[in-house]
Amino acid sequence: MRTQVCIIGGGPSGLLLAQLLHRDGIDSVILERRERAHVLGRIRAGVLEQGSVDLLRRASLGERMEREGFHHSGTYLAAANRGFRIDFEARVGKSVMVYGQTEVTRDLYAARDAAGGIVIDRAERVTPWGLDSNAPSVTYVRDGREHRVACDFVIGCDGFHGVSRTCIPKDVLREFERVYPFGWLGVLSETPPVSHELIYANHPRGFALCSMRNDNLSRYYVQVQLSDRAEGWTDAAFWDELKRRIPEDAADRLITGPSIEKSIAPLRSYVAEPMRWGRLFLVGDAAHIVPPTGAKGLNLAFSDVHYLHAGLAAHYRDGDDDGIDRYSHRALARVWKCERFSWSMTTMLHRFPDQSPFDQRMQESELAWLETSVAAQTALAENYVGLPY
Ligand code: FAD
Ligand code: DHB
Repeated sequence: MRTQVCIIGGGPSGLLLAQLLHRDGIDSVILERRERAHVLGRIRAGVLEQGSVDLLRRASLGERMEREGFHHSGTYLAAANRGFRIDFEARVGKSVMVYGQTEVTRDLYAARDAAGGIVIDRAERVTPWGLDSNAPSVTYVRDGREHRVACDFVIGCDGFHGVSRTCIPKDVLREFERVYPFGWLGVLSETPPVSHELIYANHPRGFALCSMRNDNLSRYYVQVQLSDRAEGWTDAAFWDELKRRIPEDAADRLITGPSIEKSIAPLRSYVAEPMRWGRLFLVGDAAHIVPPTGAKGLNLAFSDVHYLHAGLAAHYRDGDDDGIDRYSHRALARVWKCERFSWSMTTMLHRFPDQSPFDQRMQESELAWLETSVAAQTALAENYVGLPY
């Protein structure tokens, strides 16, 4: 088989890139390791920046999001059981959209199907070849048979554990990493959200987050030890712990119920440089990971898609390679700013095992500054709603 762009990974970044390319008449094939039902069943991010919303609209994917998503013009931060609000609209004139990654992925698969685009799921042993030549290709095995896709470009949208990044020679690839000494236990429950906006809480027992998907679907997280197992947390223990960590008025109103999903995610900051090698381009989690505090992971994957789509479109339309040549540099400039924001939110809000009384006071004073300073709130709001592309 031959295509113009071979995309490895059928997660949100691969699907969105394929959809944008399709609208420009550029052909692509997506190779996905898992079954489609598995990809669609994953519960992940919940908050879209304005830039991500605009990008989805541009790809004609805005309709259900507009109908079912929720505009949030602010968020609550809480410290020592007392909350205060940061008003994004007032500070920077923008808002965010609460619309789950699960829904975004469903919309993307529906659009791909409607366009007649190829997504090969259960593609095993996906292997790129000739990335430093003018004739790259990707082989994969499906149902025991090997196939080859010849293409102009290979795009690695295959997440942190994918194959693409490993194709960049060791003497070229530079990696930057911080692994945090805790994880997030997340629970999804068919209960009304405790607050109409998100609550990010710093507490001596550890961080907690109250989020949502819709009027009767709540998403809550508590910081846990890395050694914890989700199965070890009963629903009752989770709700007790959450109540202890959030402001009292919220704890009093919290409606609990059975969890319909419960999982633990580790926290990591990671960047791989460069994001391009020969005919290979890395996008999203394949190149970088942020800790989830601040909801940047999916949004950062989408800003990569924006830069790469613009570069590929100019290549095919005008024979202009400036965009693809500058892709890594442009994407990384934004990646590092979002890494900084996610790291600073994580550092401000979590309990670290070796935290000293001094560190504790630093967190408290940073939150007190945020509560009273318009300048500090503007800086947080500017990052939270999304830095410009
Ligand atoms: P992915 O969504 O990881 O998609 C990559 C795809 O490639 C997958 O479908 C995978 O099956 C496929 N693949 C992998 N290897 C291969 C291979 N060798 N061959 C073919 N296909 C392959 N972000 C937030 O903002 N908020 C959150 O609450 C949040 N929670 C998260 C929880 C978890 C458990 C994880 C893992 C991530 C979470 N994130 C969150 C991050 C966010 O979900 C990611 O940033 C986002 O999914 C990145 O999209 P992507 O398309 O780049 O990668
Ligand atoms: C959600 C996840 C986040 O990491 C975050 O900062 C906000 C919301 C969520 O899953 O809803």
